[in-house]
Amino acid sequence: MLTKESVLEALRDVKDPEINRSLVELNMIRDIQIEGETVSLTVVLTISGCPLKAKIEQDVIAAVKELGAKEVRLQFGSMTDEERAALSAQLRGGQASSPSPAGQAPVLNPILAKDSMTTFIAITSGKGGVGKSTVTVNLAVSLARLGKKVGIIDADIYGFSVPDMMNIEQRPTVIGETILPVDKFGVKVMSMGFFVEDNSPIIWRGPMLGKMLRNFFTEVHWGEDLDYLLLDLPPGTGDMALDVHTMIPQSKEIVVTTPHATAAFVAARAGAMAKKTGHEILGVVENMAWYEAKDGSKEYVFGRGGGAKLAETLATELLAQIPLGQPENHPAEADYSPSVYRQDSAIGSIYMDMAKLVAEKCEATVNQ
Ligand SMILES: Nc1ncnc2c1ncn2[C@@H]1O[C@H](COP(=O)(O)OP(=O)(O)OP(=O)(O)O)[C@@H](O)[C@H]1O
Ligand SMILES: [Mg+2]
Repeated sequence: MLTKESVLEALRDVKDPEINRSLVELNMIRDIQIEGETVSLTVVLTISGCPLKAKIEQDVIAAVKELGAKEVRLQFGSMTDEERAALSAQLRGGQASSPSPAGQAPVLNPILAKDSMTTFIAITSGKGGVGKSTVTVNLAVSLARLGKKVGIIDADIYGFSVPDMMNIEQRPTVIGETILPVDKFGVKVMSMGFFVEDNSPIIWRGPMLGKMLRNFFTEVHWGEDLDYLLLDLPPGTGDMALDVHTMIPQSKEIVVTTPHATAAFVAARAGAMAKKTGHEILGVVENMAWYEAKDGSKEYVFGRGGGAKLAETLATELLAQIPLGQPENHPAEADYSPSVYRQDSAIGSIYMDMAKLVAEKCEATVNQ
């Protein structure tokens, strides 16, 4: 029988696609009225122009019809500022969204809590331009292809490149003081690039950088169940790398290098820093390892052996060697991105193998 309670119960399974929580739990369902076989109700959206309105509408109607309603009349409303603030607080795990009083530790996102199930992996290198961002993006997408729940923090505040590399044009939804990351290729992404107009340069001083990274944890709703959160770090062993080390002591690291001896030598410093601060190094990725000519012969354009040598220096393993090559994506394709390799391409499958290895290593530590 159709009752208010049964309609509410049926809608418990319908989730807001962005927040990934039940509409009922988010208090978005109001004014349920039943007349015979017609059900009318109001769905209160987080923002009036919610881009996912159509999806929500479709899901709500389907769920109520399943229950036996012949007709479903939907009205849409939007939350008041107070309701948004309450939701924002709810998403932070019931903690207040206002800045913490002086002297107290700032309120942190549940994914940073001690019992968090999320594995953090920071991608570092000594030198710039060796492919950290490319490796971060492709490792994240490959982990998602394996069915893992994955997020990326583009922690390169000045030199953000992840949105561009993944061809993300959407901007994050902001609810009160909470920001929802943008979903692309099954990966939740947060980047400073989302908040900068027209690619204009950002000029910030040191202390602000750490604050920004902190905001990516305190103000971004990552959801409770991310398996992996990858951090694309700026090059070098500067403030930001140190901030990551102090903020996320449990973070693991992947060090990226080119095969050149000097690059590997410099990367060793980034690795040494991780060791000093007690972070586990998952392994080394040698990027731009060779160029494969049409006849199948390999040319070692940037030298040879840097990755293996670095892995040995850091007493870890060489996770992957990735050859030179651009993704064969075409801008005319619907899911075009300049830097994500297709799963079935040669480099894409190297990334898949690497993702499997990384997942195995991380899951082995969890189960210990
Ligand atoms: N295996 C590869 N084959 C061809 N081009 C690559 C490869 N890996 C990375 N690149 C290209 O090299 C350039 C630098 O890569 P990327 O931006 O990932 O490096 P980075 O270490 O993140 O740089 P930065 O230090 O500036 O953040 C990019 O243009 C990228 O597309
Ligand atoms: Mg980069």
